[in-house]
Parts: sequence; C-alpha cells; structure tokens
Amino acid sequence: MTAHQKAAALGARKGGLPIAALTAYDYPTARLLDDSGVDVLLVGDSLGMVVLGFPDTTHVTLAHMLHHVAAVARAKPQAIIVGDLPIHTYDTPAMALDTARQLVAAGAEAVKLEGGIRQAEKVRAITSAGIPVVGHLGMLPQRVIEEGGYHKKGKTPEQSDALREGAQALIDAGVFAIVLESVIPATARELTASLPVPTIGIGCGDHTCDGEIAVITDVLGSFPWFVPPFAKPEADLATSIRNAASHYIARVQNR
Ligand code: KIV
Repeated sequence: MTAHQKAAALGARKGGLPIAALTAYDYPTARLLDDSGVDVLLVGDSLGMVVLGFPDTTHVTLAHMLHHVAAVARAKPQAIIVGDLPIHTYDTPAMALDTARQLVAAGAEAVKLEGGIRQAEKVRAITSAGIPVVGHLGMLPQRVIEEGGYHKKGKTPEQSDALREGAQALIDAGVFAIVLESVIPATARELTASLPVPTIGIGCGDHTCDGEIAVITDVLGSFPWFVPPFAKPEADLATSIRNAASHYIARVQNR
C-alpha cells in the first residue's frame, strides 16, 4: 500500500475497529511490532527521553529524528510510519514543509506535529504538498517548559472549546487523524463523538478515543525510571535485561 492508501485506510477506521498505535525508534523493534500487527509506528520525539536520555522532548533535533525514522523504515513495515516534527523545525509553513519532506525522504509515510489553530497553516502547507499529516492536541510535550510541567487538558469549558476549535482547524487543513494526549475522559469522548477523523488517545482514559497510542517502553516495561500513571505495562523487560546481564557476567567471571 502507498502512504496515501495507508493514511486513507486509517482514516476510514473512524468509529470502527480501534486503531492500535505504538512508538518505535529502531529497526528490530519496528519489525517485531509490525509482525504483531500494529497499525501505526510513530517515530515520536519521545525518542529524546526514552532512547537518548534527555529530560524532555525539547532537546530532539531533526538529525535525531531522521536517523531513527530511517532505521524504522528499513524494517519495511505494513504499518504506516509516522515521523514527529521536532520542536522549532516547523516555526513557519515553509519550514514545516521542508522538515516534512526531509522526514519523508528518510522513510516516513506521514508526519505529526503538535498544536491546533496556530499550526493550521503549517499543516496545510504539508498536506497541500501531498504528505499525510496527523495532528496532536491536548497536553503538548514540546511546550512542557512554557507550561511548567505536564498538565491534564479539557478540564474547563474554555479548554474544551479551544480543543474543539483546534481540532476543526487541523481537520480543515487536512489531517487524517488526531492524537489526543492527557485530555480528561469526558472531553476526549465528546471530541471523539463529534470529529469526523479518528482520535488516537494517550492518557485520556479507557475507550474514549477511536484508538490508543502508547510509548513502546511503557508497554515493554523497559524504562523503569519514569512510568506515566496511565501506562499499562505488558512486560517487565527492565528486570529481564538486568537478569540476563547478571547471568552473562556470572558466566564470564566464573569460568
Ligand atoms: O512522541 C511521542 O511518543 C508522542 C506520543 C506520546 C503520542 O507524541
């Protein structure tokens, strides 16, 4: 399937089979997740925190993203590869388009950027050039410094209206899906019911969106130093890795 066919197929999942999306940053993880049948592989700028060891996503550069998008693309997944535009690489519509083109040249089939109304012209520049775009509303990790932390969104009528207006601006600009992050369940449910494109939730409560996205290390239990309260680990790779390394060390030292 082409990138456009993959994006259209996901868009058509609105209200249907829930979309299962995961982040991936490297070749083996992308292959394994794709073998499992995941719908979306997001090369998210969470890369900065869970792979590169930065305190937040504001340290991620386009060079980092291109390196990891290319690694994921070498897995040639059936899932659509979505690449995040890192902070300050989409300050203007022209910059946004240039960054999106570089991510596509590295292997992304769609791109994602954070924000609503103030990003609409940038989204339009990218979609007009034929590149599928995913929006991202609610808690925006790239604004963590300005906002002084990670806060739940959609708690007041004003915040809900802002989310709805932002979503409409993104839809008018051509996004095929919208990630909702840390939006309170009632607002996420209401947005999901009223928007014509699929919503993909993280930290929005259970069954409030058309799909879910998770950071892969939260699912694998491989980043024990920070586990978000909404994470639902399906494995404990941190313990497995420590045990495997201890057994290896013992075998080498006790020969
Ligand atoms: O960078 C990322 O992993 C993301 C998800 C949290 C949606 O944007």
